[in-house]
Amino acid sequence: MVQRPRGTRDFTPAAMKRRMALERRLEDVATRHGFARVQTPVFESLELFTAKSGPGVIKQLYAFQDKGERELTLRPELTAPVMRMIAEEMRNETKPLRLSYYGQCYRYEEFKTGRYREFFQYGVELIGATGPLAEAEVIALAMNMLIEVHLLDWEIRIGHVGVLKDALVGLGLSEEVDSVAGEPPVASAMRLLDKGDSEGLDALFARYHLDPTHAASLRALASLEGGMETLSPARELLSGMEGVSLEALDELETTLRAVQKLAPRPPKLVVDLTVARGLDYYTGTVFEVKVPALGGEGQVLGGGSYKLLHLFGLPDLDPCCGFGFGFDRVLLALEAQAKELGRSEVVVGETDRRPLLAMIPFNVDAMAVLPLVADLRRAGVRVELELRGRKIGKALGWADSVGCTHAMIVGPNELDDKKAKVKHLASGEQIEVGLYTDDVLEGLQGPSA
Ligand code: HAM
Repeated sequence: MVQRPRGTRDFTPAAMKRRMALERRLEDVATRHGFARVQTPVFESLELFTAKSGPGVIKQLYAFQDKGERELTLRPELTAPVMRMIAEEMRNETKPLRLSYYGQCYRYEEFKTGRYREFFQYGVELIGATGPLAEAEVIALAMNMLIEVHLLDWEIRIGHVGVLKDALVGLGLSEEVDSVAGEPPVASAMRLLDKGDSEGLDALFARYHLDPTHAASLRALASLEGGMETLSPARELLSGMEGVSLEALDELETTLRAVQKLAPRPPKLVVDLTVARGLDYYTGTVFEVKVPALGGEGQVLGGGSYKLLHLFGLPDLDPCCGFGFGFDRVLLALEAQAKELGRSEVVVGETDRRPLLAMIPFNVDAMAVLPLVADLRRAGVRVELELRGRKIGKALGWADSVGCTHAMIVGPNELDDKKAKVKHLASGEQIEVGLYTDDVLEGLQGPSA
């Protein structure tokens, strides 16, 4: 038998019910923050993703040539496609744009729970407004989404790539590629700080003839971690380094203060100046959300401020700010949480409380009940028509197993009398009703409904 490709999944109706409820809930929160949904193609020109990240990214892509020998790829994420769309379709629209999206992404990765080759992101991008207030709007939306889907145990880490970078540049390190190291000294230093490699950092300072005492201050800065109170020792350390700008730190502080006003307090917020998320992309505030219960694949959301629109001839709109919400991982986290709390299923949004009526024609031509079925559906009732001609006992068993709340058997006598019984399946209670829409509607609202 042909099986689905590795790293992909099928979703049964029960799984889709949860997924659609989560998507609706995210959509609702995004809409309340003024974001409007867009959609871009699942495949794009390969160049869209290599332009910024270089050819090295191809090994992670589902890249291919089409029959016209065009170099294409399934999209690994949606930020670059949305930027392309803005350049092609939305150049002249009033800014800022608040765009949201939901869809499949494809990455050729090692497949395990929480890491798929086809996965789903719900994301947002805020384009055409920069600075702490715009960033706070985006971070607060991410936090409000996690709060409103009732995820309980998560941690948001917020940093600003500019803080360490400004310090390094202020101390005299260059942002230009060093031909020996193959990367800019600033990038090497950021990597060494991130890894906690003290010897490497000292060697780098010696190589570029920098004051070694500042290496210790930088290490102290990089190791700071905690709540808002972390900002004050960071300020002290930066002030002690001559020529270093405090601009990025001031920006981060304003962003954090605005976030506090726009969203409830998260379960855990950590200010961490080493959240880097890939230097070639992000330029300002960056943030990541982790769910400890998910272990290695625990990062459920990531985003920040980045510059991409200059690649499309729109440098004035840079930087933009956005995030990708790992839809599949959040669902895994919600499922683990439901289990932990002893709940049988994940409840994200409102459950559909409308009655679900099983219409069971028995020993009659089903044609006779079709107008009533159509009319009830038009009136908003969910109706499942029994299609397999089961006997009454079996038909009621089927109705129960597919989750019907009510059943109505229509046999020859019912058709003659133009009357039938609406049975409430949980209580067994029955109400006699006329075979007319209004009567059935009333029966469905009966004492047990
Ligand atoms: P990203 O961190 O690569 O960022 O992906 C965002 C989220 O997608 C991750 O935090 C993770 O939850 C989920 N994710 C990534 N790879 C997989 C996978 N293989 N299986 C399941 N889930 C996965 C971006 O994609 C940026 N475009 C985010 C962004 C938007 N930054 C600014 N705007």
